[in-house]
Amino acid sequence: MTREDLLKMDEAQLRRRYEELKREIHYHNYRYYVLNAPVISDYEYDRLMQELRWIEELHPEWVTPDSPTQRVGAPPAEGFRKVRHPVPVLSLANAFSDEDVRAWFRRLVRLDPRVENADFTVEPKIDGLSVVLHYREGQFVLGATRGDGLEGEDVTANLRTVKQLPLRIPVDPNGPPPPRYLVVRGEVYITKEDFRRLNEALAARGERTYLNPRNTAAGSLRQLDPRVTAERPLRLWAYQILTGEGDLPRTQWETLQYLRALGFPVFDADHCPDLDCVLQAYRKWLQRRDELPYECDGVVIKINDLALQQSLGVVGKDPRGMLAYKFPAREVTTKLLDIRVNVGRTGKITPYAILEPVEIGGAIIRKATLHNFEYIREKDIRIGDRVYVKRSGDVIPYIVGPVKEARTGEEIPYEPPTHCPVCGEPLYHDPDEVDWYCVNAACPAQLARRIEYFASRTAMDIPGLGRKIAEQLVEARLVEDVADLYYLTRDDLLKLEGFAEKKAENLLAGIAASRNRPLRRLLTGLSIKGVGPTIAALLEQHYPDLDALAQATREELEALEGIGPVIARSIVDWFSRPRHRRLLEKLKKAGVWPRAVQAATQAQPLAGLTFVITGTLKTMTREQAKAFIEAHGGRVASSVSRKTNYLVVGANPGSKLQKARQLGIPTIDERTLYEMAGETPPAELTEGDADRPAAGRADPDSPKQPTLPLG
Ligand code: IVH
Repeated sequence: MTREDLLKMDEAQLRRRYEELKREIHYHNYRYYVLNAPVISDYEYDRLMQELRWIEELHPEWVTPDSPTQRVGAPPAEGFRKVRHPVPVLSLANAFSDEDVRAWFRRLVRLDPRVENADFTVEPKIDGLSVVLHYREGQFVLGATRGDGLEGEDVTANLRTVKQLPLRIPVDPNGPPPPRYLVVRGEVYITKEDFRRLNEALAARGERTYLNPRNTAAGSLRQLDPRVTAERPLRLWAYQILTGEGDLPRTQWETLQYLRALGFPVFDADHCPDLDCVLQAYRKWLQRRDELPYECDGVVIKINDLALQQSLGVVGKDPRGMLAYKFPAREVTTKLLDIRVNVGRTGKITPYAILEPVEIGGAIIRKATLHNFEYIREKDIRIGDRVYVKRSGDVIPYIVGPVKEARTGEEIPYEPPTHCPVCGEPLYHDPDEVDWYCVNAACPAQLARRIEYFASRTAMDIPGLGRKIAEQLVEARLVEDVADLYYLTRDDLLKLEGFAEKKAENLLAGIAASRNRPLRRLLTGLSIKGVGPTIAALLEQHYPDLDALAQATREELEALEGIGPVIARSIVDWFSRPRHRRLLEKLKKAGVWPRAVQAATQAQPLAGLTFVITGTLKTMTREQAKAFIEAHGGRVASSVSRKTNYLVVGANPGSKLQKARQLGIPTIDERTLYEMAGETPPAELTEGDADRPAAGRADPDSPKQPTLPLG
């Protein structure tokens, strides 16, 4: 509920909502801390807490000691010795919008006018587990979890296994002299890549996997056997001095430098002279979110002057002088209402989820992909389940998995279809592949998708010809293949619902204009399995037209760099089919017969540039990316050096990214690579961001919901 919703309620309603929220939050605390099995995402939890706080602000007289706001975290679990913290280990209030941040600032200025001129640090908010590290005479003597903020668990033995944790400070003998006593707060975390690997290994051993990196850090640190912890790739960021003896820094910014000088791992942060800079820094971190090797769910804004920060005091368990500004959520839970299937243009059958509508990062999500039937089986996803749904930046929303703890017994296991839901023909499955196919060449669903794809920006770019019209054309039997588009008449179109003169003429003009598109576009549009824009561009380099390509043998194709046996077979197979021969004849007769401009004379937009690739790209393998860059005149090197012009960054980038940053080498995403090469990026890189400027990243706040893949 929003604050406005609450303000509209009368007192009795508000009271009911208040009691309901308390009950709900207590339950989620229990699930999270005691059972280690949460049923909602952190983001949803934070929102519930925020709502509770709003009500308590309106009615402070209602607050009783049993309110979740009055409790700092959860009681320490059994099994570890309890440690009393030297000072309360506090938590943070959350903001979800610029306005929340500005309101926070205004409140502080009212409280203390000195805040008006305050400077700030902006730090990443690490999604890990808070720890308290005690050093005496430079020796690490005690390490504890946060627990309830007053008392934590003694996990010293486990923390000693964290390799980044300095056991003696300063680590560098030339560093600053160690204070007699120092208590440092930090965050133990695991990188995204290590998280993925660890879960893979756990799954392979048949052990329970972790939900997210934080859950993993917590679970690993609280192992009763330190040998287990030692095997976990835990890391540390230090960011606060809780207390100590000696001459200690007076600002947060100096604290970070000081901790670094002592040998603690400290993240890069921003030092901001005013609030505008703070909001800008937030946006910078938000943009970099995907490139960071660790999970980061927001930034922490801190008043830099520690004396001023202190003097502002604490509300409940949150210091007033700090604020967590959260990134838009990417993972929420909702109910899986149904599983349906989509028939793609190559006949591939892909399941997708119908969801109870839910907001993720500003978009309402109603559908999400389920990848394939094997995925549903492996994750044991059932209809009626509560499921985690993730939508990160520019990817299509997908189901992460079921919340098994929330099961009621009413959930229905899913049975994949045996027949095509559109044409009714039996489905086919190659035992070596995960996917199922409808192999009926006349299946109307496939044909509609092929027409749609043929007309898309990735292929022949026929404006106005989208999914709906493609389906109308197929249903009215006006087209049996893509070539028939070029034989459509005005009268044909006027028969269709929603078509008047103008619309018919526009569409015909668009179709006519597409006749002159380059060969690679036409090739892409034919929906030959495995032949997307990259391979099409490669083929265009070697074959002047479709007749020449139709003559190519498997051996010949396989000899081309970037083409393997599967694609070679698929191409030869496609050209051998009589209905495709007929299609080609029709295209030729209609004058849709582009001839390639061969390599030598073709523009080479990437000529003279050296690229290095890191991480997983969405539309091409490494080999294909190399072929793509070379086909456009560029060069690909295997490691970053001063000679590198650009680093192409995919998902989960490796150490090359760091190296590039050190050397100041510009980084680009996959989409920008296409754009630099003068190619239209495939739809999956551009989906859901029609309003986006030509280069850069997709805006995760974009209200448009990405559409589902066509298969
Ligand atoms: S300062 C008094 N700085 O976020 C608050 N906390 O939601 C002290 N966290 O419990 C925390 N990164 O475990 C601070 N750069 C950062 C942080 C950070 C992650 C965690 C911390 C805290 C939680 C609050």
